[in-house]
Amino acid sequence: MTTILSGTALAQDITTIRDVHTSTPAFRDAVRRIGLHLAVEASKHLPSHDVDVTTPLTTTAGRVVDGTVVIVPILRAGLGLLQPFLDIMPYASVGYIGLKRDESTLEAEEYYQRLPPLSATSTVIVIDPMLATGGSMVDAIHALKRAGATSIIAVCLIAAPEGVTCVHREHPNVRIVVAVQDEALNEHGYIVPGLGDAGDRLFGTL
Ligand code: PRP
Ligand code: URA
Repeated sequence: MTTILSGTALAQDITTIRDVHTSTPAFRDAVRRIGLHLAVEASKHLPSHDVDVTTPLTTTAGRVVDGTVVIVPILRAGLGLLQPFLDIMPYASVGYIGLKRDESTLEAEEYYQRLPPLSATSTVIVIDPMLATGGSMVDAIHALKRAGATSIIAVCLIAAPEGVTCVHREHPNVRIVVAVQDEALNEHGYIVPGLGDAGDRLFGTL
């Protein structure tokens, strides 16, 4: 279950974030707009039920989200996608998982975790711009399952095929939503063509 987005407005913003000459403010802004597309797509997979709604004129059929929605950015780069997800799902609560990939082993190490209560009635949306080897996302999903989550959607901006395969293998019941899937990983574990280091470009730490 992988959804890859399409559309011209989205493609233009993906072009902006790939461009090595894009400034930090313009990069952040384009990530925020891409985040809106991703959040709308992810929201299509929330459970919901019918309700009656009374307008000033009559009563008609409406629809509301079932259970709770929890958005979990993977620190640090996932923070760049948080606000657009809250714009689309303002009723969501937010949890945090801090993971840093060791750039020599490519293994992710957890340094922070703060999650709201999770249960079978929660839909958890994990957000991280980059799905490279998949190690960070796989570890985050393990942590969420240990904390009680059963319904999880993984959302990324750019994915490598290796990362998608890894998440599907380790967590076959997790839906993946990505804006774009790239060609491959290079020998340093970076997505090619990619955009470089998402955290550094978002937070101006190049
Ligand atoms: C980046 C990115 C993902 C991870 C992807 O974070 O935001 O979390 O790498 O790589 P993987 O799929 O191979 O695990 P990084 O560890 O550089 O931390 P940062 O967000 O603090 O920059
Ligand atoms: N992390 C990033 O920020 N970029 C990549 O291409 C791979 C991992």
